[in-house]
Amino acid sequence: MNTFTIAIDGPASSGKSTIAKLVAQKLNITYIDTGAMYRGVTLAVLRAGIDVTDEEKILALLPALRLNFRLIEEVQYLYLDDEDISESIRSVEVTENVSAVSAIEGVRQHLVTTQQAIAAEQPVVMDGRDIGTVVLKDSPYKFFFVASPKVRAQRRYKENMAKGLTSQTLAEIEQAIIERDRLDSTRIHSPLKKADDAIELDTGEMTIDEVVNRVISEVKNSQA
Ligand code: CDP
Repeated sequence: MNTFTIAIDGPASSGKSTIAKLVAQKLNITYIDTGAMYRGVTLAVLRAGIDVTDEEKILALLPALRLNFRLIEEVQYLYLDDEDISESIRSVEVTENVSAVSAIEGVRQHLVTTQQAIAAEQPVVMDGRDIGTVVLKDSPYKFFFVASPKVRAQRRYKENMAKGLTSQTLAEIEQAIIERDRLDSTRIHSPLKKADDAIELDTGEMTIDEVVNRVISEVKNSQA
């Protein structure tokens, strides 16, 4: 793989997508939200009425699944065939089930192959859980974002309120985030883990601009 890549990993709501989008805009490169891809598979599994632990049926569903990002007036949407699923993949039901689906080795292999193919074609900033350790393990620019569960729950609560998703209290969101982190970091295949050569940033202690500038300055400094 010889295109330009930036890898950002971290636990739920650690600020990855907000920062990755802004970095992509500033550097005029493509942003790939790999979490959205795992969420897309989970949505399709739930809609097909398949149990999220039924590996065999889930793997059988993958070859026909057409998940694509589309850029429309500078905003990125995720499509399943011709349907815009950008909002449906953020539902509480998908969020509660995505860690089970993403723990399946065959699901990961399928999506990692797609992600690597995208990165081979264009410069990207990619965020997820295994980008620095697996998907773009040779990337020269790796970041690992952290923030306390309280800070992360408050962020997600605000995002949910803005979208009119009011079914979960702040305390429930914090519990769900802690549980998802536990599942994501203890799974057997490609668990959430900081790559040895990643720069760790506590985004709870920094403004959005500070994080964006830090990422961009690391890239520019090492290119100078
Ligand atoms: O945005 P948020 O922090 O809620 O999570 P996300 O990035 O949308 O990822 C949703 C879920 O997908 C995670 O909790 C992981 O279970 C899974 N995921 C993964 O396993 N590997 C990735 N590279 C990205 C996401």
